[in-house]
Amino acid sequence: MTHQVRAVVARGKGAPVSLETIVVPDPGPGEALVKIEACGVCHTDLHYREGGINDDFPFLLGHEAAGIVESVGEGVTDVAPGDFVILNWRAVCGQCRACLRGRPWYCFNTHNAKQKMTLLDGTELSPALGIGAFAEKTLVAAGQCTKVDPTASAAAAGLLGCGVMAGIGAAINTGNVGRGDSVAVIGCGGVGAAAIAGANLAGAAKVIAVDIDDRKLATAEKLGATHTVNSRNADAVEAIRELTGGHGADVVIEAVGRPETYQQAFYARDLAGTVVLVGVPTPEMKLELPLLDVFGRGGALKSSWYGDCLPSRDFPMLIDLYLQGRLDLDAFVTETIALDEVEKAFERMHGGDVLRSVVVL
Ligand code: APR
Ligand code: ZN
Ligand code: ZN
Repeated sequence: MTHQVRAVVARGKGAPVSLETIVVPDPGPGEALVKIEACGVCHTDLHYREGGINDDFPFLLGHEAAGIVESVGEGVTDVAPGDFVILNWRAVCGQCRACLRGRPWYCFNTHNAKQKMTLLDGTELSPALGIGAFAEKTLVAAGQCTKVDPTASAAAAGLLGCGVMAGIGAAINTGNVGRGDSVAVIGCGGVGAAAIAGANLAGAAKVIAVDIDDRKLATAEKLGATHTVNSRNADAVEAIRELTGGHGADVVIEAVGRPETYQQAFYARDLAGTVVLVGVPTPEMKLELPLLDVFGRGGALKSSWYGDCLPSRDFPMLIDLYLQGRLDLDAFVTETIALDEVEKAFERMHGGDVLRSVVVL
């Protein structure tokens, strides 16, 4: 059996997305069919539409989602119909060299659905990050579904599926922020704001938010920033050093994805401190640093993919903290929109007044 559902499709490079009817097969072995309840709009969706990821059009966009499992294929035991799940793009294989070394969050062979979803004429769709959740229903590998407490709001929970998890994980997993640390976060969009929330959860004593937009700094304060710096008017490195006894922060998280801000992160950290790059650069960007400083300042320069998260470990824990009132996921939901408003949400991204627009179905 197949299902015909409405979905947001990007048909060609730079062309506005369209609402289309797509065909979703019933789940085969190891697969799950999920009825989507909410899906956040992420920069990566826009990158797909602009042809910045690859040329495998048409894309089925959307990947920060939560929903209800409708049916599962043969051999699926971890989730069952009726489960409330957050979708992830790290369904670990358990067999690659990273998994075998006990570091499954680096898994090099993550699972997606084997069967293809298609347009009505049979053209195969490429689901964004192997998910494709701007759709009434989507087909994924069962391991892409992580069961969480169903009393959580779907709009808030879905955000853990990508950007918010990336930010929180950059602090708690990659940066290994601990009690009493000083942390600076450069760039306080959805990802950076989540890094601030993460640093706060981990017990950081000082959390310095840096952005060029005062609206973002106001949200950062709401999520636990103890200090804010508008780096349009002030030198970010000087300001962070001043706030940390002249030394720099123990962990600096770069959540913009640009060489200038990476350089700021590099020099704003204390000797032997850690830099975490979670912002995503573009292919033409280059970084120049005195190699002697890289050596002499010691510490760790790390990058964080999806917050080095392990969905089965991190999603249920973070949803529990959310339900206990210790992690304000609702603060990331700036607006809820309908399925046919994704294009408008892309336009609003440039305005800078949105952490996340979330499609609610
Ligand atoms: N210095 C400080 N902050 C800056 C600078 C700068 N030079 N340039 C931009 N910013 C701020 C913006 O004002 C904004 O608040 O960085 C933030 C970027 O946030 P968003 O555009 O909302 O992006 P977000 O979803 O947070 O993602 C951040 O991570 O996943 C990647 O592709 C994504 O590279 C992007 C980054
Ligand atoms: Zn693996
Ligand atoms: Zn994303």
